[in-house]
Amino acid sequence: MELDSSAGKDKKALIESLLKKLPVFKSLSDNHLSRIANDFIVLQVKKGETVFYQSDSSTDLYIVLEGAVRASLLNQEGQELVLAAFDKGDFFGEMSLLDGKPRSATMIAAEDSVLGMLKRERFLSAVKSDPMIAIDLLSALVQRLRMADDMLESLAFLDVNQRLLKLFLSIAAADGEKDKNGFLRIKKLTHKELAARTGASREAISKVIKALVFRDIVREDGDYFLISPDAETGI
Ligand code: CMP
Repeated sequence: MELDSSAGKDKKALIESLLKKLPVFKSLSDNHLSRIANDFIVLQVKKGETVFYQSDSSTDLYIVLEGAVRASLLNQEGQELVLAAFDKGDFFGEMSLLDGKPRSATMIAAEDSVLGMLKRERFLSAVKSDPMIAIDLLSALVQRLRMADDMLESLAFLDVNQRLLKLFLSIAAADGEKDKNGFLRIKKLTHKELAARTGASREAISKVIKALVFRDIVREDGDYFLISPDAETGI
């Protein structure tokens, strides 16, 4: 992870335009926003690199300027459970920023990424001068809590087959394309990635994919999976 020495006007303008779109900062005046944008430090992270580890004691807030990162829990064997994925314009690190406690998850770059980092003190002073930020942040936190509840429900009540279909359909809803047979085309993920995103073992995922392909619910097409319109009925 390195600091971008070319973090000049372009990056500041990008930070400002992304901050403007963030619900958390929507109540800020242009002047205030521009001052906060100036306080961000720009970092480059390569795909697979760790931004910070679970239990680290840092408290900065991050925003994704380019690329994508994921929040994960890792066990001793290196098995991963993905809690959430963050794309351009998303923020993370708000939990330690707010309570000052160690990081709740490890953040890993899912692609080569550029991040903006804001010091806790700077964020807190922005909140003091504009308390609406706190209200908007609460609403973003509640949304994350709802998604966490949804994940908990899936882990408790759905089997691996159902969790995988649910994941495929949610990826397809975000950026899947329909082919002429009504199948949804999504970018292929490795069995390891699918395991990390469904809380399953790689072996269980391989078995389930084999069965789904056999039943023609999933087709494999080069770099893509094709998901049948019947997939919904399998959940
Ligand atoms: P923090 O605990 O500071 O560092 C890890 C970050 O991962 C955390 O802040 C949140 O930004 C994010 N995170 C942790 N758990 C979840 C979750 N269940 N849903 C969404 N984001 C999370």
